[in-house]
Amino acid sequence: MNNVVPRWIVRRLAVVAVVAMTVVAGLVVTPAAQASPAVQYTNPLAEQRADPHIFKHTDGFYYFTATAPEYDRIILRRATTIQGLASAPETVIWRKHTTGEMGAHIWAPEIHFINGKWYVYFAAGRADDIWKIRMYVLETSNANPLSGGWVERGRISTPLDTFSLDATTFVANGVRYLSWAQNDPAVGTGTNLYLARMGSTPWTITGTVARISVPTYSWETVGHRVNEGPSVIERNGRLFMTYSASATDANYCLGMLTASSTANLLSASSWSKTATPVFASNTSTGQYGPGHNSFTVSEDGQSDILVYHDRNYRDISGDPLNDPNRRTRV
Ligand code: AHR
Repeated sequence: MNNVVPRWIVRRLAVVAVVAMTVVAGLVVTPAAQASPAVQYTNPLAEQRADPHIFKHTDGFYYFTATAPEYDRIILRRATTIQGLASAPETVIWRKHTTGEMGAHIWAPEIHFINGKWYVYFAAGRADDIWKIRMYVLETSNANPLSGGWVERGRISTPLDTFSLDATTFVANGVRYLSWAQNDPAVGTGTNLYLARMGSTPWTITGTVARISVPTYSWETVGHRVNEGPSVIERNGRLFMTYSASATDANYCLGMLTASSTANLLSASSWSKTATPVFASNTSTGQYGPGHNSFTVSEDGQSDILVYHDRNYRDISGDPLNDPNRRTRV
């Protein structure tokens, strides 16, 4: 009996050993991050309120703002619970100008608390050029932002002076960033996602402006080539930037970029995009065109809550931007 093991058996055993090690390694996984415990809310939270943004503040209140379908004003609500926002009184904190900039298409406000003051980021066209959409900032030092005192801090200037909207801000590794959607004629029609460090004021940016996503997948380019409405959450050492894609009809959906929290976020290669939408129309639940989300946290702090808009019907006649029935859900 030849006691030398034939080479083909050695090779076979080596393959088995590698597969076995892989399986064992796969089974001995590092404990997965705990999923958020489920919480229940009654939806919709608000009819005819698109691009919803909820900010949970340290004062015990949730602050809510969203796009009103008339595109003519910025509204705020506050309540001590997320469900309470549904019936909370609504205050108009600012109205569009009758002439000049900030005079039309008042879109997608977000409310943030930065260095002891409140800021509202929003997009607006001009009264005399309603598609000259740019990003603007309001500020108040009032502890209760529903009590007024709002000052117009002006436009967020970016290297390109083009169609720009949907500004959001977040802090990662102690650095505050601004992310937004903007057209770049060199890229083509539609909007891409950009990221920059916030500058010396909450209405300025500084340093490198990184283009971190361009609509390239088919689900990003139905009706229009759209990446917009960025929103960031950081969990378990990673940043997740969801964004909205395609036209604002039933094709509207969420995509997601992921980066390591310690990566150079201003390098586009740090971000990887899901190949398919992470949230899309669902005929069985009757939710169509879900998108332009933000994130908040449940009352007990244990659950991450997706805040988004949808419609309860698929077919829209005319420009979907003129359909008023995007409503807020959580
Ligand atoms: O709701 C108005 C605009 O519609 C938002 O700014 C944008 O995200 C979407 O296209």
